Amino acid sequence: MTESRNRVGSRLEPDEMRRHMATRWLGADLRCLETVGSTNTVARELANAGAPHGTVVIADAQTNGRGRLGRSWVSPAGKNLYLSAILRADLPVESVPLITLLAGVAVVDTVAEWHAAAIKWPNDVLIDGRKLGGILAETEGQGAERVVVLGIGLNLNAAFDDLPAELHNKATSLFIAIGRPVERARVAGRLLSHLERRYDDLAARGFAPLAEAWRARCGMIGRQVRIAEPDGVVAGEALGLDAGGALRVRLDSGAERRVVAGDVTVLDGYGSP
Ligand code: BTN
Repeated sequence: MTESRNRVGSRLEPDEMRRHMATRWLGADLRCLETVGSTNTVARELANAGAPHGTVVIADAQTNGRGRLGRSWVSPAGKNLYLSAILRADLPVESVPLITLLAGVAVVDTVAEWHAAAIKWPNDVLIDGRKLGGILAETEGQGAERVVVLGIGLNLNAAFDDLPAELHNKATSLFIAIGRPVERARVAGRLLSHLERRYDDLAARGFAPLAEAWRARCGMIGRQVRIAEPDGVVAGEALGLDAGGALRVRLDSGAERRVVAGDVTVLDGYGSP
């Protein structure tokens, strides 16, 4: 199907997605639903009911899409991608934050077919400094029972008027960036392929290659940043990642700080990697 014939507004079909997927285990069980509260919640319920590693849930619309820090994720019907994957592999607990980084790399590589994008730590994907997508990795259980639900929201065919007014200068979509609709099944299929490849690579070769790929796609290294952490605000130069995926920041005082959670503002504007 050509992109100009993209059926904006229709439910994604697993068979259409599979034409664009090169995966072995991710999406082997692929559920494309119409309207749900949150795909992360549906995926968590499926995981609790025993759904296997690699199960993927996609919805046409979400009525209660969730973002990080208790925020909501605007999820109009038939325009964008709302996807959650169940990851059950026996990952060490310190690998869980790396899943967010891995997903950021996979999203940037997927979107590159249409437009260059960049990662903002920890979970944002931006085009021209505006948010195109976000990642919400939630974990449950312990040890061999641990499940990570990896949720990804990507604004694909939303028009400017589909965005709430308060997001007009903060968010974007691929449609807004390139001026034509994209085939959602293609984006979704390609994204699963990139995710599986990066996941398998992390399991086989560890964090170093992922950290290198992340750095090459991140637009904020070497920039002056301000970070609202849960217990205060810090400012300094973003240096890169540490071995656990935390952000290393050289504070204005000269000391180095490891930031594990927070909202980053890039003070001199957000650039390309
Ligand atoms: C963020 O940037 O704060 C993360 C946004 C994550 C949104 C996605 S959409 C699919 C999945 N289901 C949800 O409820 N949230 C994630």
